[in-house]
Amino acid sequence: MSFDFDPKVRVIGDPVLRGECAEITEFGEALEDLAYAMYESMIDAEGIGLAAPQVGLPLRFLVVGIPDEEDDHLHLQAYVNPRILEKVGACTMEEGCLSVPDIREDVTRPERIHLAWQSVNGEKHEAWFDDLEARVLQHEIDHLEGVLFVDLLSPSRKTAIRGRVKNLEKQSK
Ligand code: CO
Repeated sequence: MSFDFDPKVRVIGDPVLRGECAEITEFGEALEDLAYAMYESMIDAEGIGLAAPQVGLPLRFLVVGIPDEEDDHLHLQAYVNPRILEKVGACTMEEGCLSVPDIREDVTRPERIHLAWQSVNGEKHEAWFDDLEARVLQHEIDHLEGVLFVDLLSPSRKTAIRGRVKNLEKQSK
């Protein structure tokens, strides 16, 4: 099994961003290769997270790469079949998305999440995440459900950016 994909990040208007993503049932080398290819796409695009549908693959798979302020390294991690078990609190943070270029808006989401996921070799994990990591994971998991951050804005903010979103959708076709 291998995953062929076009590393170009899909933009809002592309139906793959709105579809359902399938659970991954086969683990191992091909999935590891996909993780590395997606890290590359994410880093090239200067993103801190990337979900498989953003590169045209409708799979429950995502990668995160958050810069560590102390050692200036990217902490790269792949999440297979991620599932949020519990959400706590609420906080507002500005978000952007490689699939919605040049638009940044405040989004309110739970502050901490308890996540279950598998690694590329199928190992099961569970952990709590907070701060930026919790934020990025929730944003990327939304992608697996066909949800984009602009869907979560208030009606007035949605109206404010509607023209720019329409333009992106036109260019995407
Ligand atoms: Co995104």
